[in-house]
Amino acid sequence: MIKVLFVCLGNICRSPSAEGVFRACVEKANLSDNIAIDSCGTAAYHIGKSPDPRSIQAAAQRDIDISYLQARQVEVSDFDKFDYMMAMDESNLENLKRLQPNNSKAQVGLLMEFATKIQGTEVPDPYYGGKDGFELVLDLLEDACSALLDHIREHHTLK
Ligand code: 4NP
Repeated sequence: MIKVLFVCLGNICRSPSAEGVFRACVEKANLSDNIAIDSCGTAAYHIGKSPDPRSIQAAAQRDIDISYLQARQVEVSDFDKFDYMMAMDESNLENLKRLQPNNSKAQVGLLMEFATKIQGTEVPDPYYGGKDGFELVLDLLEDACSALLDHIREHHTLK
């Protein structure tokens, strides 16, 4: 089983959306039994909350249900549970690197480094902006998540 954790700040906008988009890619590839997916935030503000209603709605328009997810904060034990910990922006990445124990298992990096169609290293925080920001988040995630799945299939024997 390959385990993938998506990480943003609050775990109510970008990383639950990434979890939903990546899960859809994995289901389409018939690999749900081989890849486990979760998301979390570096901050504690929204622990236990559902995703932001704007993220739920934008994802639903693309036939992705994230309404059942509940925010949690990253834990030090995640670095040994997960194979990939994918940060949405540089600030999340810095926070993860600060928390990562030496010799832990996870490969920690920026999700957008996998993107092939859209240039850029970050999935911008949509929280304080308008609806367009939530659409952009999903466009970026669709590109990067599909490429992440290709990468995992190339680097691990799944079936
Ligand atoms: P996320 O977005 O990190 O994509 O979940 C945010 C959610 C909440 C806040 C900031 C970003 N906040 O400041 O409460």
